[in-house]
This record gives sequence, structure tokens and C-alpha cells, in this order.
Amino acid sequence: MDIMNELPDEQFARIDDLLAFVSIYDDEQRTAAYLDMLEAEREHIKGAVCVEAGCGFGLIAAKCAQLGAKRVYAVEMNPHLAMIARRNLSPYANVQVIEQDIRQFTPPEKIDLLVQEFFGQLLFDEDLYTLQNLSFSAEAVLPHRAVLEYALVHANDYVDDVVTPQVIDQLKGALISGLFEWQSLLSNGQVLQWTREYFPKTATVDISGQSGDLLCFYLEIFHRDRMICRTGECSNWSPVWTPRAGDVFRFRFKPGKRGTAVYFDWVK
Ligand SMILES: C[S@@+](CC[C@H](N)C(=O)[O-])C[C@H]1O[C@@H](n2cnc3c(N)ncnc32)[C@H](O)[C@@H]1O
Repeated sequence: MDIMNELPDEQFARIDDLLAFVSIYDDEQRTAAYLDMLEAEREHIKGAVCVEAGCGFGLIAAKCAQLGAKRVYAVEMNPHLAMIARRNLSPYANVQVIEQDIRQFTPPEKIDLLVQEFFGQLLFDEDLYTLQNLSFSAEAVLPHRAVLEYALVHANDYVDDVVTPQVIDQLKGALISGLFEWQSLLSNGQVLQWTREYFPKTATVDISGQSGDLLCFYLEIFHRDRMICRTGECSNWSPVWTPRAGDVFRFRFKPGKRGTAVYFDWVK
């Protein structure tokens, strides 16, 4: 979905974000996986004071309430989404929608559980870094770990009449989301990992000696060593591709006002 007319910058940004986040609900697998994760955590949710960071439509906050949370603070900074969440969450007396940046939110009581889905296709390219700047700490964060994996493949197995070897050759240095469909891949290794305590901003990976001329990056999200979602299985996260142009690549993430900028280069 694209906005086709000229709008004042601020309104454009707000509606653009709304459309981006509305489209995540096309991925029913993602939502179902999150709801299943909450079911599996029901004994920790019952009686707990919960925060949902970035509640969107409020489905996760609603599930926490249904599972017996004592109170849920559903924090959403986009005013359009906060309005929708307010409507969806109105049946739950113990859910409060807070229209605010999660970094500015100061809860009036101790928080037992923080639930979030701030993962980008390259792990850090959306809003995960905001969790590094909270004014409160939660006993538990759900989910609490995610990994950006890479796999090396042979471009000849992927090219077709449109994305030819010549096209791929022109893409050196660029990370292209969804260039090819997801196929189950064997990981060559981790690029980097996030846990609730660990927010790396760079990663340098040496792939010397590994064969393949096309790189694919993909995301895996875990809680208590159980995989919750994965690129391909949840369509919200597309695989990201780039042609190989060396033996050592580097990622740098620069968190900014709106999301996080990704820098990628070949250092050898
Ligand atoms: C990927 S969506 C997830 C929505 C919801 N948690 C779910 O799983 O259905 C991320 C949401 O977080 C909101 N968001 C992003 N950064 C935020 C921040 N710093 N403070 C509050 N909300 C934020 C976005 O507007 C969006 O609604």
C-alpha cells in the first residue's frame, strides 16, 4: 500500500507507518505464533503486570488480559494505531492504552513482563534498539532472543528469466529484500544475535573457505529455546539477498529517530 497524494510531512509519516504496520496482520502465521507463545507462558502471565511495547492493533495485549494478567499497559506511539487499539481493547477493564513512545513511558508500578515484536528482517533494522532506552526494567522480556543467520547458495540455482545473472551482478553491495522466494536453507552461521541484555551495533563475518556466490540473510526468533517465528514461515519477514563480493562482510546499524539505518559493506 502506497500513499499516492502529497501530504504534510508529519501526516505522511504517520499514515505511512500505519500502513506498514497494518500489513503485518496479513501474516496470520506471525500473529498465531505470538499468541501460541503467550499460551505457553500462561502461568507467568496470570497475575502479572505486563507492558506491550508497540501494541499495534492490541491483539497481544488482549491475549495477556485473557490469560489473566493483573494489568496491561499497551503502549503505542502511532496515533492512528493507538486509536484502533483503544477501540479493540475497550472490553478489557485492566488494559490501558498509552499513546506514547515506549522510551518515554514511565510505568506507575513494577513491571513483571514486557512483550514486544520490534524485529526487522535484518533483526535490528526496525525498533529493537528502543528497548535499550527504557525508563523501567521488566522481570522478563517476551520473546527474549533472536538471531540473524546467513546462508551461502549458488546464484545459478535461483536465477530466472527476470532476475538473470546480469541483474544479480548489478546488485553488488546492495541488500535486497525478497529478491527470491524463501526456500529452506542450511545456515552457514550467525551474523549477530539479540538478547534482552545484548544490543550489538556491528558485526563482521568472515566467509573465506565457504562456497557460494549469493548470500541470504534470515531471521529466527526464540523464547526459552523454542523457535517462535522464522523468515519464510512468517511472511512478515522476507529473506534478504546480496551477491557475494568478497570474503569478509560487515553490518553496521545506526538507530535514528524513525527506525534504524543499515550499512553493509565488504571489507575484504
Ligand atoms: C511490528 S508492530 C507489532 C504490533 C504488535 N505488537 C503485534 O505484535 O501485533 C510494531 C508496533 O510498534 C510500534 N512502535 C514502534 N516503535 C515504537 C516506540 N518507540 N514506542 C511505541 N510504539 C512503537 C509501531 O507503531 C507498531 O505499531
